[in-house]
Amino acid sequence: MSSAFSDFLLASKEQVDRQLADFSGGHAMTSPCLAESLAAITRASQYALINSGKRIRPVMVYAAARAVGHEGAGTDLDYIACALEIVHSYSLVHDDLPAMDDDDLRRGKPSLHVAYDEATAILVGDGLQSRAFELLAEAPGLSAEQRIAMVRVMAKAVGSAGMVGGQYIDIQATDTELSLEQLQTMHSLKTGALIRASLAMGGIAAEASPEHLSALDEYGRHIGLAFQVVDDILDIEGDTATLGKTQGKDDEANKPTYVKLLGLDGAKAEAQRLLQAALETLNNFGASADHLRDLARYIVERDH
Ligand code: IPE
Ligand code: IPE
Ligand code: MG
Ligand code: MG
Ligand code: MG
Repeated sequence: MSSAFSDFLLASKEQVDRQLADFSGGHAMTSPCLAESLAAITRASQYALINSGKRIRPVMVYAAARAVGHEGAGTDLDYIACALEIVHSYSLVHDDLPAMDDDDLRRGKPSLHVAYDEATAILVGDGLQSRAFELLAEAPGLSAEQRIAMVRVMAKAVGSAGMVGGQYIDIQATDTELSLEQLQTMHSLKTGALIRASLAMGGIAAEASPEHLSALDEYGRHIGLAFQVVDDILDIEGDTATLGKTQGKDDEANKPTYVKLLGLDGAKAEAQRLLQAALETLNNFGASADHLRDLARYIVERDH
């Protein structure tokens, strides 16, 4: 990893962590008799947000905007970056629920439904999702057209034609075998869609040309799929302490994964193929896309 990229990764993460703390604060309490409940759901939401998440989707926003020539300090992208991290964090809270993957460890801490309870986890997820859209509505410095385009992109990416659809296929496919094509569709929806949206939203914020937007989307298609292929590999090869989530859960739950279908070496070769394909989509970009290039390598080479 180049030192310019590791500095960028760290600075982005610190920036997002700071902003998330601000954005997840309680709203003004209107009634003292409800204040305690509202403070409690705020605390539970902060538990889901303020932790060791890698903040990859925010990093995608900053790196995509930079690739297409965004010249600001990047802090003007914080609302968008945090909206994506918040919606992603909601997906993790729900993904861990007993009715879904039934995971009791997330980001190195007890999952939200373990630390609190299931009803709280469901409601925290719901609240985070709507908070994310609220941030897009409030983000400073955007035209009405940019704002609507981002709302449309994010809504589609997390809905039934995107992440929720992929999660549904995942749950239905437990204890069954999928073809490679079906697995690719599932992974592209449950994980790839939000990553593609992150790139699109960074591009829209930076007023990217249609050609640049379409190159970012192609990059996202490959790296978004690679992200979940690597997640499947790490479920086998990672360790619980480093991952911050329980290793071996996919096997235990009998989930269809790339490793199950292609073997460990086959899954790794597929991740490498997708990395190369992602890098090729950036051939027409100059040095401004170096962070996107390094980010693709980081996604495929990470250990958690
Ligand atoms: C985990 O996402 C869930 C998937 C979509 C594969 P990340 O690996 O980005 O998890 P955090 O945000 O760093 O915890
Ligand atoms: C989750 O996929 C994708 C989401 C939309 C949250 P996984 O179920 O494989 O994610 P982890 O391994 O629990 O983080
Ligand atoms: Mg899952
Ligand atoms: Mg899971
Ligand atoms: Mg996984």
